[in-house]
This record gives sequence, structure tokens and C-alpha cells, in this order.
Amino acid sequence: LAAIQRSFVAKAGERNQRSYMQLQSQASFKVAVLGAAGGIGQPLALLIKMSPLVSALHLYDIANVKGVAADLSHCNTPSQVLDFTGPSELASALKGVNVVVIPAGVPRKPGMTRDDLFSINAGIVKNLVEAAADNCPDAFIHIISNPINSTVPIAAEVLKKKGVYDPKKLFGVTTLDVVRANTFVAQKKNLKLIDVDVPVIGGHAGMTILPLLSKTRPSVTFTDEEVQELTVRIQNAGTEVVEAKAGDGSATLSMAYAAARFVESSLRALDGDTDVYECTYIESDVTDLPFFASRVKLGKKGVEAVITKDLQGLSEYEEKALETLKAELKGSIEKGIAFANKQP
Ligand code: NAD
Ligand code: LMR
Repeated sequence: LAAIQRSFVAKAGERNQRSYMQLQSQASFKVAVLGAAGGIGQPLALLIKMSPLVSALHLYDIANVKGVAADLSHCNTPSQVLDFTGPSELASALKGVNVVVIPAGVPRKPGMTRDDLFSINAGIVKNLVEAAADNCPDAFIHIISNPINSTVPIAAEVLKKKGVYDPKKLFGVTTLDVVRANTFVAQKKNLKLIDVDVPVIGGHAGMTILPLLSKTRPSVTFTDEEVQELTVRIQNAGTEVVEAKAGDGSATLSMAYAAARFVESSLRALDGDTDVYECTYIESDVTDLPFFASRVKLGKKGVEAVITKDLQGLSEYEEKALETLKAELKGSIEKGIAFANKQP
């Protein structure tokens, strides 16, 4: 993960110094962002626009996307930016795309859980994934819309019904949990940030987010109090932002950063890089739950391997937390599957 982050940063630095035209030949992938005019969508689109691996950036939203695309299209990076507004243009937004990123939907306000977003976001994700199944069935699909513990299982059911489900290519984006864990651990232990890598497993809501502090690289020891404090901070970091924004939404900038890193990792894997690792929420058999976030190796065909050794030799605290999170995660998965299957 540190290597990916280093490369992401290093590539951005290189791009400042070299002519973007020189990078033109590297650009070959098409990326669609669905919900591109939103709080996450706009900065995410900007960061993807900086990637030398992208040839076309398709921005889709139900409103306000024309201006975002016009604005971004003036950046002298290789990708062509195209805008698509509303359901009648959704198919065109998705045709020929390699990676689809979905941050469409409503964010939390103070006092809400991610599950409180289910009633609105479940239907949005279902419709958008149906369109992806019809128009770019081979694409990697990155789900950001909450509650991802449920929206990823919904997406899986939709893709199954369409006969195009490839579990290796459907991802719940949990990169922000890793980004936060790395930041908080580096601060607490006075470590060089770029070197810190904390795998985060489970799901993406409250106690289902389980940072494996015992697996932190470089190896570092924590007191029991530090483990408790850091774990709770990482689990509640989304709420920390929601409360600070006081009704004006949830994490957007750090999320865009995290999602851009996951997009860049996916593109590097698609491009043949054989050293790409990220934590992500996927269909999985590493526990008795059908979906679970783990560190995976990404390749040209999606998830190439799940890094199961992260789950071996857990601390007593982590073992207990893992057992405790299962009931909540199971309920969220079942809720998503039931929703998808009761729809026509
Ligand atoms: P936002 O309200 O600022 O933006 C959402 C965008 O989605 C808007 O532009 C809206 O027009 C668009 N949209 C709504 N319905 C749509 C549809 N049917 N098709 C296409 N676009 C549609 O919200 P935001 O702050 O960008 O957050 C978006 C989602 O991301 C929320 O559900 C939030 O909870 C989630 N989120 C997830 C993570 C994570 O770690 N996975 C982190 C932060 C936020
Ligand atoms: C986050 O972790 O920041 C997101 O899931 C948004 C939220 O609602 O907390």
C-alpha cells in the first residue's frame, strides 16, 4: 500500500515537471464517474483527470454535470472529458468503459447511521449497476455509495440477474478506512507517514470497520489503551467528519483522495502491474460471511488473490472484535440481498 501511495504521489510530481503531451501515449483506459457533480464526484473527477493512464473520463449525474466537465476539460492532461446528464444519457456514459466508480446518492447528516441512507441509496445503486451490466459488463465496478455493507451485495445480485456477475470485478471502496488508519497511526507513533500500512478488514460502518493494528507495517507495538483509542477513532472517523460539517454532508475530499487511489491502483493492475495491493469489500470466503473486506492483490482480471495471512495470528482484541462485527455485517448483507431480490 505504501508503494502504491508513493507511486501515486511520485507520478503526480513527475507530471508537474514533464509535458503532459509526453504522457499521452500511456493513456488508454476509460473511467466513468456516476454522481460526478457531487461532493465526492467533483474532486474525484479532478484527481482522475490527473492520471496518465486515463484516455477518457465520462462524467455522469442527474444534474449540474455540464459545468463540471467544461471546467475540468481545460486541464492539460491527456484524458478527454465528456459529460452525460440524466437516465437518457446513462448508457452512452458507460459504453466501452473499463472502470465505473459510483459515488451517487445521499450522504449522512449528524445523528444518522450509514444504514439510514439505505432507503434512498439502495435504489440508486441498483439502477446504476443495472445500466453498467447492460453497457460495460466487463468493467471493474467501484461502489462508494453508502451503506456499502449493503449496496455491494445489492450490486452483486443485480449483476447475477443480468448474467454478468464476476465477483473479482465488484469492489466496495474501503480505501478511506486504510487512509485514515495510516494517518492516525503515523501521528500517534510519530512514524514517517509514507511507510505506514495498516490493513483494515470487515466492512465499512462503525464496529464492522476493523483495523488490524497488530499487522501494522513497519512493525510497531501499541499499548492496550492505544489499540482501543485508535480502533475507535478509525471506526468513528466518518462520524467525526459528519459532525464537523454539521449538516453539510460527510467526507468528500479525503474520500475523493482515497477513491482516486483505488482507481489508480485498478488502472495499474489493468495495465499489467503485478504489484498492486489494496483493501476492499468483496464477495469472499475468508470468513463465514459472503462479503468481507480484506487486503487483495489486484490484477488484469480484478481480484487475483485475497491476502488471508492478514487474518492469521490476530491479537486477542482483534479476534474478539472480528467475532462481534459479524452479526451486524451479516444483517447488512442480508438486507441488501433481500432488497435486490424483491425488486422486479
Ligand atoms: P453529494 O450529495 O454531494 O453527491 C451525490 C451526487 O449523486 C449528487 O451530485 C447527486 O446529483 C448524484 N445523484 C443522486 N442520484 C443519482 C442518480 N440516480 N444517478 C447519478 N447521480 C445521482 O454526496 P457525496 O458527499 O458525494 O456522497 C455520496 C455518497 O458517498 C454517499 O452515499 C456517502 O455516504 C458515500 N460516501 C462513502 C464513503 C466510503 O468510504 N465508501 C465515504 C464518503 C461518502
Ligand atoms: C465515511 O466513512 O466518511 C463515509 O462512509 C461517509 C460517512 O457517512 O461517514
